[in-house]
Amino acid sequence: MCGIVGYVGSREATPVLMNGLKRLEYRGYDSAGIAILHEGKIKMVKTKGRLAALEGKLNSVDLKGHMGIGHTRWATHGEPSDANSHPHVSSGGKIAVVHNGILENYIKLKDFLISRGYNFQSETDTEVVANLIDYNYRDDLVKAVIETLNEMEGAYALGVICTDCPDEFVAARKDSPLIVGLGKDENYIASDIPAILEYTKNVIILEDREVVRISAGRAEIFNLLGERVYREVFHVDWDVASAEKGGYEHFMMKEICEEPAVVKAAISPRIRDGQILFENFSLTDEMVRSCEKINIVACGTAYHAGVVGKYAIERLVRISVEADLASEFRYRDPMVDKKQITIIISQSGETLDTLMALREARKKGSHVVSIVNVVGSSIARESDDVLYTFAGPEIAVASTKAYNAQLTVLYLLALKFGQIRGTVNDEDIRYYLDQLMGLPGNMEEILRDKKEIQRFAAGHYNAGSIFFIGRNIDYALSMEGSLKLKEISYIHSEAYAGGELKHGTIALVENGTLVICPMTQDLLFEKMVSNIREVKARGAVVLAITSRKHAPEAEKAADAVIAIPDIDPLIAPVTAVIPLQLFAYYMSVMKGNDVDKPRNIAKSVTVE
Ligand code: AGP
Ligand code: GLU
Repeated sequence: MCGIVGYVGSREATPVLMNGLKRLEYRGYDSAGIAILHEGKIKMVKTKGRLAALEGKLNSVDLKGHMGIGHTRWATHGEPSDANSHPHVSSGGKIAVVHNGILENYIKLKDFLISRGYNFQSETDTEVVANLIDYNYRDDLVKAVIETLNEMEGAYALGVICTDCPDEFVAARKDSPLIVGLGKDENYIASDIPAILEYTKNVIILEDREVVRISAGRAEIFNLLGERVYREVFHVDWDVASAEKGGYEHFMMKEICEEPAVVKAAISPRIRDGQILFENFSLTDEMVRSCEKINIVACGTAYHAGVVGKYAIERLVRISVEADLASEFRYRDPMVDKKQITIIISQSGETLDTLMALREARKKGSHVVSIVNVVGSSIARESDDVLYTFAGPEIAVASTKAYNAQLTVLYLLALKFGQIRGTVNDEDIRYYLDQLMGLPGNMEEILRDKKEIQRFAAGHYNAGSIFFIGRNIDYALSMEGSLKLKEISYIHSEAYAGGELKHGTIALVENGTLVICPMTQDLLFEKMVSNIREVKARGAVVLAITSRKHAPEAEKAADAVIAIPDIDPLIAPVTAVIPLQLFAYYMSVMKGNDVDKPRNIAKSVTVE
């Protein structure tokens, strides 16, 4: 998920690689390293921490050489540490690899390599790639890499150097980005354009399942059958700032558009032959069967994901679930004991209230499962079990892709628990996994047409106050829509259970009041139509977000309707949230706010 650079040419490689990694720092990382091939030997320097720490180590070694690879790591397998940092070198020292992504079948491959005498210095999946290339290597690095990639399952962007190849290195990608930079008698690879923009604006975007052999004078692309592939070169006219956002105006939009890939990354490593697999879980089936109650505890957007999780787990597992704000949970002496499982959700894994709530739950004997995005974070380290969301660094303060990933993991957890407790049968599992696997396609469809929501925002960005109303899971979704809007547009907003409005707050509805209604729950659709009629009778303007099958009826009641692809109502929030995220984004842009860094808010609230 992080940063890769590679270089071959007449310059000293080390400064080129370090410059490139610095240009990728914005993506967030926890460790870094480079490897240079010189006089038939691979010399490597790597460290946990920032690039400054790597520079400190580089000052005391002489890394000469005109070809090398570099990496900034966003840990997924193995905590941030010197040993787990990239590059990783094969046991015999012949092959060095840097990798962005996740090797899903690394355990099986690692066992095989150990049986063939390979030893490992790290806990990472990536080190397996280095040794597997070495195992497959005869005398052609491209062939060895292709053979290895055909044995790998998962996402990768790879840079590979070999002591037998002093003038060329190999790179490849699938599901993680990788570009080739073409210079004059020098060539580059990078995860993202900013890394090489100061050297060249001539770029090839590698496609999935492509391998490239790179020397100072050439870049030859192959498919996984070893056949040559020809890709057009395009000339980048971005400046560095916009290049860091991948050409998007803001990180928030970039991250919203990453959501389909993020949901896929959260799902695919956990489904094997139609079964849900949670690696290294200490939570036993017996503990799940004997569990009497589940607590879900978090802050902000993570809490809103937790409220969706409450509805999903109660519906699939038929067990009582209490979702609570961490700042409330930790001070109310909660009735928690060892017969309860506590799910802690946090993108950063460092939110203080959430960490303290985790400690409170554990102190009372509850088994804690955390859903976290940052590997090795405090919450991850103090949990009994961790499910990583694999969303990659989330730069914008307003959380978007992490929310969708949290929901996805919660659904997998609910299905797993339901299977263990017998409230979900194999047919249900197949059905819901099918629905979950269809999410990325549905999300892409919504993201292909942002104009409607942008137009609607253009008509309302001067609103004084906006209501979000929904029922059941749509109420939880309304909470997130309201928070997104508030934190980046600075417009006051409230989320209400649809049925609650008439108990007082409807007094605030007057001519022109904007009310946004997610209405994805089939069984409550008519109730929501009634709610729309109630508020419209007081002059409200209503935007409905519903599935295509309900759109015609919603259009009779609401002023505007955003129709999303039909999907099971239980998992609709993963797609229905996108229009709400986009609405908040466009409202903020139109108000001229700092979308990525809204006033008064930090990305991670590590204070009380
Ligand atoms: C969400 O857009 C906000 N940035 C904020 O509410 C955030 O969700 C909350 O601070 C929790 O952060 P965490 O997920 O890192 O624990
Ligand atoms: N899965 C690899 C690791 O954990 C790569 C992580 C990344 O993409 O930075 O080291």
